[in-house]
Amino acid sequence: MPAPIKLKSKPSGEDAICLIAGKIPTGIATDITSSDKKALLAKPTEWQDLISTTISGITYFNIPEPKKGANSTEHYRLAGSAICDALKAINIASITIVSGTQEQALAIAEGIWLKNYRFEKYKKEKNSFEIKSIGIQSDLSSKKEVQSLIAKLDGICFARDLVNEPANILTATELAKRIKDEGKKAGYTVDIFGKTKIKSLKMGGLLSVNQGSTKEPTFSIIEYKPSKPKNKRPIVLVGKGIVYDTGGLSLKPTPNSMDIMKCDMGGAAAVAGAIYAAAAAELPLHIIGLIPATDNQPGPDAYAPGDVITMMDGTKVEIMNTDAEGRLVLADALVYAKKLKPQLTIDLATLTGSSMAALGYYAAALMGTADDKMKSSLKNAGTSSWERVVEFPLWDDYGNDLKSDIADIKNLGSTPLAGLIHAGKFLEGFTDYPWMHIDIAGPAYLPSSRGYLPKGGTGFGVNLLFNFLKDYK
Ligand code: BES
Ligand code: ZN
Ligand code: ZN
Repeated sequence: MPAPIKLKSKPSGEDAICLIAGKIPTGIATDITSSDKKALLAKPTEWQDLISTTISGITYFNIPEPKKGANSTEHYRLAGSAICDALKAINIASITIVSGTQEQALAIAEGIWLKNYRFEKYKKEKNSFEIKSIGIQSDLSSKKEVQSLIAKLDGICFARDLVNEPANILTATELAKRIKDEGKKAGYTVDIFGKTKIKSLKMGGLLSVNQGSTKEPTFSIIEYKPSKPKNKRPIVLVGKGIVYDTGGLSLKPTPNSMDIMKCDMGGAAAVAGAIYAAAAAELPLHIIGLIPATDNQPGPDAYAPGDVITMMDGTKVEIMNTDAEGRLVLADALVYAKKLKPQLTIDLATLTGSSMAALGYYAAALMGTADDKMKSSLKNAGTSSWERVVEFPLWDDYGNDLKSDIADIKNLGSTPLAGLIHAGKFLEGFTDYPWMHIDIAGPAYLPSSRGYLPKGGTGFGVNLLFNFLKDYK
């Protein structure tokens, strides 16, 4: 269901009402007593303590202002998440936000809807509670901003659904099909290459990773091109689409490793979700998405440690570990991107356990050759979306660790330290345009829910990319 957010001239009879910082607009709760007011303005110390106050049969929530130094948008997003829980507890499914600024009201609506998300298509007994309506008093925001928020939230939920879908169902072919189908709603097109076309393009990275699989790889090209785009040359987004990563012959262990590896197309999901959002919000930008997709399986024909493979641009890569497969499929996509003469290319990938070791579940690792202005816009989008990115260097020293004795390069660093940078350095060699690489291995998939983020697929990257694209100059 699309996010049910709408502008309202006044709350409907069945709506709970959300106030911000105790601001009670005229016409609301005129008969409020001083004890009602005291109850209403009580500040929760923890979000789970947020409770409603009933005055003359109407349910009110009041959201206090953030503490000094806290990120305001994130504060109101978390407030929305707490409201969603509280509404569920009292079984009220609609609410209208009547005070505050546009930024605050939109963030609360965002938090409510992101918290309402669930993935239960494979359950007989579904959760019976669902938010039906989130109103924003019409003088607080504009139709355009509300539409843009709905587009973004639908993009995030689309990405979450893709990540949560198990790999026995979401094969590379199915991933491509779902992205294409969703394009009809949002307004983008998708061209899907199968194995024959991938072979003719000589995408040796994608083909090698696919060798152990019984299923076909796909390479999808997503395009959103509005009639008058601001950018002459496209912005290219590349997403790692490993629908399942067993590690291949360098097999992964199961607990907390292989068992979560349906998440390894989290980059592809983020790219698809972001282009969905950009198209649905009609952003004036020409955007192309590239999704190389396959599973990574051991098997009689599987590529093996010690192999030398030839990438799309002719680079020979010595394989040291078949679990370092993401960089191989991404590298071919980055080579393909050269043909598109991009103004900027950004890739997103659940690429290394090492980025997770560095940043945990709280942030993604950024590396790249784009200029500082681009990088700081991305970091700003990270702050506004709270999908934070932390930059790591691409110094030549790390490149030296990738030298192979018998080929141009190897797919693993000669030391196990700084693995996230080795991966970034590997990718850099396949680019000749301004580029940013975002390793989302930590935040793409959570072991337990946190605030408005669910357990499992978070859709990380959609909010970040959308905010970046919305402000793109
Ligand atoms: N898909 C994994 C990375 C990953 C780890 C994603 C945890 C999400 C959560 C990737 O393909 C991988 O296996 N990377 C290896 C690389 C190593 C062999 C150089 C890793 O990080 O251990
Ligand atoms: Zn792997
Ligand atoms: Zn992987």
